[in-house]
Amino acid sequence: MSKPVRTAVFPVAGLGTRFLPATKASPKEMLPVVDKPLIQYAVEEALAAGVETLVFVTSRNKRAIEDHFDRVYELENELLEREKPELLERIKDIIPRTAASVYIRQSAALGLGHAVLCAAPVIGNEPFYVILADDLIDVPGKEKNVLQQMLDVYHEYDCSVVALERVPHDHVSRYGIVQPRKVDQKIFSIESIVEKPTSDEAPSDLAVIGRYLLMPEILSCLEKTGRGRGGEIQLTDALELLLSQNPLLGYAFEGKRYDCGDKLGYLEACMEFGLKHPELKEEFKAYLLKRIALLDR
Ligand code: G1P
Repeated sequence: MSKPVRTAVFPVAGLGTRFLPATKASPKEMLPVVDKPLIQYAVEEALAAGVETLVFVTSRNKRAIEDHFDRVYELENELLEREKPELLERIKDIIPRTAASVYIRQSAALGLGHAVLCAAPVIGNEPFYVILADDLIDVPGKEKNVLQQMLDVYHEYDCSVVALERVPHDHVSRYGIVQPRKVDQKIFSIESIVEKPTSDEAPSDLAVIGRYLLMPEILSCLEKTGRGRGGEIQLTDALELLLSQNPLLGYAFEGKRYDCGDKLGYLEACMEFGLKHPELKEEFKAYLLKRIALLDR
């Protein structure tokens, strides 16, 4: 029987330079898509998958994330007095009821692998998720979110699983890229993995997207991993080490990913989530149709 996956690690210490100046004083994970910040979508996904401990690996300037998942008594009282019960519920609902939150500082900007290693004392000897909040994954019409889909694969094969998506060949240098061997339509056994290769070096067009379900053995691999691409300790390099001793699967998930670490991807997400937002969709669609008609003039 495979162990349950009860911990999720959210590496949120990055500088968010691609979104400057918006991210000068506030975290990129707090960028809103319509009315919810990116990190809240990620936390909701983890809670829906049954996670009981949320580990945020933070840095300076990330206080807003802690505050977002905590109570604000002044605001609650104000909403109570103004008789706005729906808004009150909405802000209270943000606070995870079924999970504990742990905040760990990543004191040196040494990359994603180092961030995951910072969470090791909380992870212990259990499998865990790593969730990159700037990859926002929507699963319209699907029963299971991407973590729940990966959990099914993990329960079947009892090994680490990373989310995969095929990307345009000229984008491979933005991702960890795998050399896959097909197991079935959606599952691949990973034979090697390389961080941000050039398009000539890339072993395929299958990229790792920001969802990982990892066995605890990755932690000892991370301890042995030196600085790689960009002078940082790369999770990808630790995965390459892991797969020399343990199976590693890639899972081509069902759903639509928005790269919200990129301005265009972020705008696309805002547009799509606006078009299905219960309070906005009709008016927003009418506005867009009118606006598009003007584009060619
Ligand atoms: C990180 C990982 C990369 C992965 C990507 C997914 O890169 O290092 O392997 O493909 O996330 O979003 P980053 O986007 O942080 O540069």
